[in-house]
Amino acid sequence: MEQSEDGDLDAGDELFEEVDGDGKGEIFANRELLNIDHVPDENRIVGRDEHITELANEIGPAVTGSPPNSVILYGKTGSGKSLVANHVMERARREAQRRDRRLATVTVDCAQSRGEADTVQTIADKINRPTSGVTVPTRGISTNEYYNRLWQILGTEYDAALITLDEVDRLSDDDILMILSRAREAGKVDVPIGIISISNKVNFREQMTERVKSSLGHNEMIFDPYGGEQLRQILENRKDAFQEDVLTSGVIPKTAALAAQRHGDARKAIRLLRHAGDYAKTNNIGTVKESHLELAQEQAEVERLKELISGLPPHSKYVLYALANLTDGTTNSDDWFRTTVIYDVYEEVCKAEATDTLTTDTIRGLLNELAFLEITESNQEHGGMGKGTYKEHRLLWDPNVVFKMNPGSAQVDTDR
Ligand SMILES: Nc1ncnc2c1ncn2[C@@H]1O[C@H](COP(=O)(O)OP(=O)(O)OP(=O)(O)O)[C@@H](O)[C@H]1O
Ligand SMILES: [Mg+2]
Repeated sequence: MEQSEDGDLDAGDELFEEVDGDGKGEIFANRELLNIDHVPDENRIVGRDEHITELANEIGPAVTGSPPNSVILYGKTGSGKSLVANHVMERARREAQRRDRRLATVTVDCAQSRGEADTVQTIADKINRPTSGVTVPTRGISTNEYYNRLWQILGTEYDAALITLDEVDRLSDDDILMILSRAREAGKVDVPIGIISISNKVNFREQMTERVKSSLGHNEMIFDPYGGEQLRQILENRKDAFQEDVLTSGVIPKTAALAAQRHGDARKAIRLLRHAGDYAKTNNIGTVKESHLELAQEQAEVERLKELISGLPPHSKYVLYALANLTDGTTNSDDWFRTTVIYDVYEEVCKAEATDTLTTDTIRGLLNELAFLEITESNQEHGGMGKGTYKEHRLLWDPNVVFKMNPGSAQVDTDR
């Protein structure tokens, strides 16, 4: 590969530019700070002091080995729920250690787990220690046996436990919430367990059965969306992800403003900034400018959509492609489509993907799931006298973002 033509002798061979992240002419000093999973240190967390204190009060007794309260955290996406839960759990774990108490802390992402057995397996495996003498195989034992092993591990290795069930609304039923919250009362294990449930569906509480509500107690914490100024501060606090003088002055305010439009989503803000940096880096531009943010927007959206559907079966994606094709092909503003119409295009997509189609009923179920995740929206329509009702669906995302999830595939001719 040739040397770059801008005369910069330090440029080196770009094939190897990843090897030393902090080289001259670099954009990032510590890109890690802009990773979504990165848990920032306390002094980088903005405007959530009250939530942190309140959550610490609820789960606090666990650090002494006493029963903690269970809490449900609600709030829109990117409002800091997972961050606050992980931050408080980690501080509790350290405090317990200082007091010579053994506190188990664990988070499971329910969106990624495949059912109850898998969720219990994950919890048991994450907190297991070699001294327990218990093994937690990934498969081959019953759900009941996973619970038994979890109780054994807790009983021998810990004085208390804090379990965070993130994206709890994605669990197919309440059983696990029920069993964990009642384990002590039911005599399964003598270790107090606190459950932190997290949901970005405000109506999730209504969906829970009465028995679970009463087991979890009534502690709820609401996370309001961030305002523009808070978003700006969150980004300012991570400015050192970039080399000095790389960010031009308008970039952070503009990023904050764009994310504020999207219900104050901090994830979106951080991601936009990272993509703008990536853009400058790939194109060998020495500074990040406001104009790069426009280009970063789509990338950030693609990443978010991928994340949202990552736990769904592959055919959800095909259904989504079908709806994106229909939406893309429509000339008028009426972008609602009936299930049967979507199904026809879905068949085309399956053909292009060389895979068999699933039944219309299954596809209905997948469409419901997409609506639940707010990727699509559904409506019940009345077909008029004697015609019964039917459902219509609408894509809430830009079809181009959907296509870009998997470049080169999934675009079919809809004849519209
Ligand atoms: N108050 C804050 N201070 C600093 N960074 C924050 C703050 N709130 C959120 N962030 C950052 O924004 C990103 C999104 O936050 P988080 O994952 O906690 O959102 P969430 O409420 O759990 O969203 P979702 O419901 O989509 O899971 C994370 O990278 C997090 O570190
Ligand atoms: Mg979260």
